[in-house]
Amino acid sequence: MLFGCLEVMLEVFIPMLMSVIVDGGLYREEDFMLRELFSQTLIDDRNRFVITVGLIMIIVAIVSMTCGLIAARTSAVASQGFAKNLRSSLLEKIQSFSFANTDKFSTSSLITRATTDVNTMRMTMQMVLRILMRSPIMIIMSSVMAFAVAPHLASIFLLCIPVLAVILAVLMKIGQPRFKKMLRKMDGMNKAVQENLVSSRVVKAYVRGDYESEKFRNTAEELRNAQLASSMLFNLTGPIQMLIMWGCSVAILFVGGKEIIFENTGLLTGELVSLVSYTTQAVSSLTMLSWLIMSMSRAQASLVRINEVLDEEVDIVDGTSGEKVMDGSVDFDDVCFSYTKDENNLELCHIDLHIKSGETMGIIGGTGEGKSTLVNLIPRFNDALSGTVKVGGRDVKEYTLENLRDGVSMVLQNGSLFSGTIAENLRWGDPNATMEQMKEACYIACADEFIDSFKDGYETMLEQDGMNLSGGQRQRLRIARAIVKHPKILILDDSTSACDMTTDEHIRRALHNFMPGTTKIIIAQRIASIMTCDRIAVLDEGKLSDVGTHSELMERSAIYRDVYESQMREEDEQNAES
Ligand SMILES: Nc1ncnc2c1ncn2[C@@H]1O[C@H](COP(=O)(O)OP(=O)(O)OP(=O)(O)O)[C@@H](O)[C@H]1O
Ligand SMILES: [Mg+2]
Repeated sequence: MLFGCLEVMLEVFIPMLMSVIVDGGLYREEDFMLRELFSQTLIDDRNRFVITVGLIMIIVAIVSMTCGLIAARTSAVASQGFAKNLRSSLLEKIQSFSFANTDKFSTSSLITRATTDVNTMRMTMQMVLRILMRSPIMIIMSSVMAFAVAPHLASIFLLCIPVLAVILAVLMKIGQPRFKKMLRKMDGMNKAVQENLVSSRVVKAYVRGDYESEKFRNTAEELRNAQLASSMLFNLTGPIQMLIMWGCSVAILFVGGKEIIFENTGLLTGELVSLVSYTTQAVSSLTMLSWLIMSMSRAQASLVRINEVLDEEVDIVDGTSGEKVMDGSVDFDDVCFSYTKDENNLELCHIDLHIKSGETMGIIGGTGEGKSTLVNLIPRFNDALSGTVKVGGRDVKEYTLENLRDGVSMVLQNGSLFSGTIAENLRWGDPNATMEQMKEACYIACADEFIDSFKDGYETMLEQDGMNLSGGQRQRLRIARAIVKHPKILILDDSTSACDMTTDEHIRRALHNFMPGTTKIIIAQRIASIMTCDRIAVLDEGKLSDVGTHSELMERSAIYRDVYESQMREEDEQNAES
């Protein structure tokens, strides 16, 4: 800002020097007043005079330009840094989101906010640094200079200022909603692109390529229209400014020229020339200022969208106890949960379930009965609406999230892998894991066979989300990643669904033998997968219907028996067929 001010102060001297050159060059005895500034000998030698003043003008211009360059450079550095900090804060905030917070913003909208919106803020910031001080100084100084030269002519351009201000205000008023609309369309387009790319396989499988292309064309068309509508107004300001600026100059030249030629009021040609320069300087500064205000009001929309994310209240607050999870017991005491925080619309209803440390607990229930919802409460992906969830005898809310999640390892129902090597993916569980530990984890998860069959073994590169692996291989790798962590509690949410029965059984046996101290919670649709668990919980419409061993449940639980019998019948039929 400081260099911007210096730049503009020097710039204002240039028209004055110009008028000195012109008036010195056209020197007439009776109307020349520069004798006070320059020596008579210098004025008499006109060539030398013009060259001297010209050199001063060049030096002033160079210094002014240097200041301008420094101002441009520093404001770019500052605004880029600002954008970087803003992006980092956004990402940090998003990382702290609970699952419920994440559900509120769509991924595509978060991407637009972290890219387009941040970029708008960056550009505005840069303009603020460059223009906010510079333009007002320029307007004031050139007005003062213009009035000093010829007050009656300077008042012509003072008249233009309110006209320009009104026009710009109207444009701004119309522009703001259009700009907001444009940002919404941008969200829409990003969403279309993102969904399309993420689900490109599904799109192909359903031969929906044409339909999706058409849908995308429409979104792109809408965005184009919205962008045109909002930029049209923005682009209008340039021509309007030019019109007013040159109109003003013509008026000044006309009135001033007439005075010099016919009226002999003492106005000099050089002064008239400098007056036109001051007019252009003042009017273009005013336009720059209005551009700035317009950009600021556009940025307002982006600012609101960024602040929505930054101000989002994270509903999961870190606990204060520094303690780590001591043992693997899990207790649900009268736990209710609702995604909408509505007591009358509960996804989990008064759950009382107590799992001992080291126990293997199976959870079974139909689709959408609340199995994932229930286990998500253990690592605090969501918080219970009422009741308490305890891990290692302590309320989960007392632990810091880091300590809690270090103790609880969860293989999510639809978790993902990351691009990078297999070993890097496994080390997500524990950054310091040795090769031995990783191999053991892979043995337990039945992942060792296929990893060993790869040429590069553990250094095999995975594509995004492990797309170069089979579904079953991905599942096993995700289980291995959770085991590497050596957690107190291991939760498998439908994690062996893509594995065959033999693998499924191997994993269960290995978990039992290799991780005896770890509490294992296994959610499955197949009864065979959980039959051998120490105990099994049956969930039905968000309620805990029964808990017991396989044989106990076969005796008492009608739901369990039904599921068992229907699955066994299916299996028998399949066996008969084969
Ligand atoms: N993020 C969410 N926001 C709102 N409702 C949700 C959300 N996730 C799940 N639900 C609802 O909560 C209920 C329980 O879902 P949950 O995922 O726990 O079922 P599930 O037993 O794990 O089913 P599945 O066997 O299919 O995995 C369902 O009715 C579902 O519609
Ligand atoms: Mg589930």
